[in-house]
Amino acid sequence: MIKKCLFPAAGYGTRFLPATKSMPKEMMPVVNKPLIEYGVDEAIQAGMTNMCIVSGRGKHSLMDHFDKNYELEHQIEGTSKEPLLDDVRGLINSASYTFIRQSEMKGLGHAILTGRDLVGNEPFAVVLADDLCINPESGVLEQMVNLFKQFRCSIVAVEEVPEDQAHKYGVISGSKISEDLYRVEDMVEKPEPGTAPSNLAIIGRYILTPDIFDILEHTEPGKGGEIQITDALLEQAKSGCVIAYRFKGKRFDCGSVDGFIEATNYCYENVYNK
Ligand code: G1P
Repeated sequence: MIKKCLFPAAGYGTRFLPATKSMPKEMMPVVNKPLIEYGVDEAIQAGMTNMCIVSGRGKHSLMDHFDKNYELEHQIEGTSKEPLLDDVRGLINSASYTFIRQSEMKGLGHAILTGRDLVGNEPFAVVLADDLCINPESGVLEQMVNLFKQFRCSIVAVEEVPEDQAHKYGVISGSKISEDLYRVEDMVEKPEPGTAPSNLAIIGRYILTPDIFDILEHTEPGKGGEIQITDALLEQAKSGCVIAYRFKGKRFDCGSVDGFIEATNYCYENVYNK
């Protein structure tokens, strides 16, 4: 049903300098796997087959990671080390990878709009690889795809956050449909302290209907002077429907050093095959 997954991956990753000076932040390894690979795993598990990556200058290693490395393959073929490549070989064989370069950094909304030619006119998922989500039974994207079958409109994943953290996120408010579902009525990108409309923060998983592209075309720069997906989604919510879903699973903010370390410890204990 939803075949394409967009990965905005052009950002500089300044919080991880100097590590990210010449290495894309999406390639930072959580234990032995680059961040973006966790996102691709989740998309494939949700039935997606086209990974559309919005990349930027100096990010060639993202392309190389999802391609064959003949020299390495040749060197380890038939040795005890060959199984170490199984995972990434599986990913390469299960999906196509297309890339487009975002030449100017004008915000998440602009990054998504840059991916328009890769996505075309169909509903698609968006993964912000910084947010590492883990739920062994069913990944967050799979949960959202199942909801999409029911609602057929854009869906954002949300999580309850403490009041003093709300300023870091897009925050929604809306009417409750059921235990974990809300119909979005308001949405604010990074609200000033004390002004958040609720404690439900958007995390980096979206399903978007393609009319979002036309909205993004005329979305004016918002918070921080950037084109915000939150503003475009609010317009969609006002003229149609946007659902917020309190997902099942754990989420780590790997865009922060603390979250990255937490994710590393968690994955080492629970995900990594020791
Ligand atoms: C982006 C979005 C924000 C969302 C967050 C989730 O912000 O603009 O609405 O809550 O991702 O990680 P960023 O973290 O890129 O500043």
